[in-house]
Amino acid sequence: MKHIKPAEVKAGMFIHGFVGSWFDHPFWRKKFLLVDQGDVLKIRASNVSAVIIDSERGAAPAEPEPPTVATTPDYQRKAVLVTSRYASSRPLPRKTSFRQETRRAVRIVEKSKQQVGAMFESARLGQAVKLPEVLPLIDEIRESVERNSKALISLVQLKTKDEYTYMHSLAVCTLMINFARKLDLDDETIRSMGVAGLLHDLGKMAVPQMILDKTERLTADEMTTIRSHPERGHALIGNNRDIPDIARDVCLHHHEKMDGSGYPFGLKGSEISMAARMGAICDVYDAVTSNRPYKDPWTPCTALGRMMQWEGHFDERLMQVFINSLGLYPAGGLVRLNDHRLALVVDNCAQDPAGVRVLPFYCTSRLQELTPEEITVVPDRGVQILGTERPEFWHFEEWSRMRNTILSKAAPLSAAA
Ligand SMILES: [Fe+2]
Ligand SMILES: [Fe+2]
Repeated sequence: MKHIKPAEVKAGMFIHGFVGSWFDHPFWRKKFLLVDQGDVLKIRASNVSAVIIDSERGAAPAEPEPPTVATTPDYQRKAVLVTSRYASSRPLPRKTSFRQETRRAVRIVEKSKQQVGAMFESARLGQAVKLPEVLPLIDEIRESVERNSKALISLVQLKTKDEYTYMHSLAVCTLMINFARKLDLDDETIRSMGVAGLLHDLGKMAVPQMILDKTERLTADEMTTIRSHPERGHALIGNNRDIPDIARDVCLHHHEKMDGSGYPFGLKGSEISMAARMGAICDVYDAVTSNRPYKDPWTPCTALGRMMQWEGHFDERLMQVFINSLGLYPAGGLVRLNDHRLALVVDNCAQDPAGVRVLPFYCTSRLQELTPEEITVVPDRGVQILGTERPEFWHFEEWSRMRNTILSKAAPLSAAA
């Protein structure tokens, strides 16, 4: 006998019973061979919590799906080869506070800037990347993220024009490590993901600095040169056996898009590996939240809100995991507060990076609309966000139109909650 979910029921199975009250399913008999497809659909739509199957008298349930997103067949294309050479022997540290970790993270950034700068300069001169020299740095970043992920992630967001390429590489490395942890990937893969983040734009070392720094519109030729950086980076890595295959893959494919409109190959959906999809998300997120000579940075909240709306660019499931890995709420999203209110996320709070500005507009206990009035939610003080909600669950079918209505009805910012 096996207990399975109603959704896993198939024709040919022998039903031995249902878990739940008889109100929850439409069958007066409990034991029968399931032949009719209509009956299959009725069971799948029923409210029973489980179905008991006799696999000796009928078909056996299918093997369970692999547990994590990382192991689905979709992502096994261009399988990433990881060997124990990339395993770290250092034990993982304990959690610390944001303030405590920020002090250490400042030192890590200072040290990394010099090391990554030197590595990129030698690549510019055509010398091979000496990975063993960089691996201790990857481990320090991983350890900092383990102690408190927000400290280093917020530090690497700040960069000046001169150090952009190095700091961007450091930022993508940190984001990739943090992202990979959230996917429950093993330590070796997490470390290789860090290397991938650090080296993803290595090919920019083969692009003239003048083009990289240009603030005016690029000519068609300059654009072609810039767009050659994934292939140039891949060529720079070449046969360097120190570099994990994940890094090779991310270097070459981090500008591919899910709908096939990316470059250099216009790969689509499952043709792009999980690591490259992750690289694409971290790369764009860091680019749009950074200060650039030609544009103001977007706040993390706005960036995530906008990136979610770019259809066909990113892997949507991975995008959700990425947002969770940052512990942020995207602008335009729906959240539930701990005082039974639903609220629209407006943006980060300018004064407090941990604060989120929201517009509560609906009371779930009284089932009543409220006049939206903006409040700032700050961790561990006053009203708190319990989590994100799906608009469809609350029958807010036209969520984008509804958002505009809420914003237009909103009163200006009142006191912090
Ligand atoms: Fe790039
Ligand atoms: Fe990049």
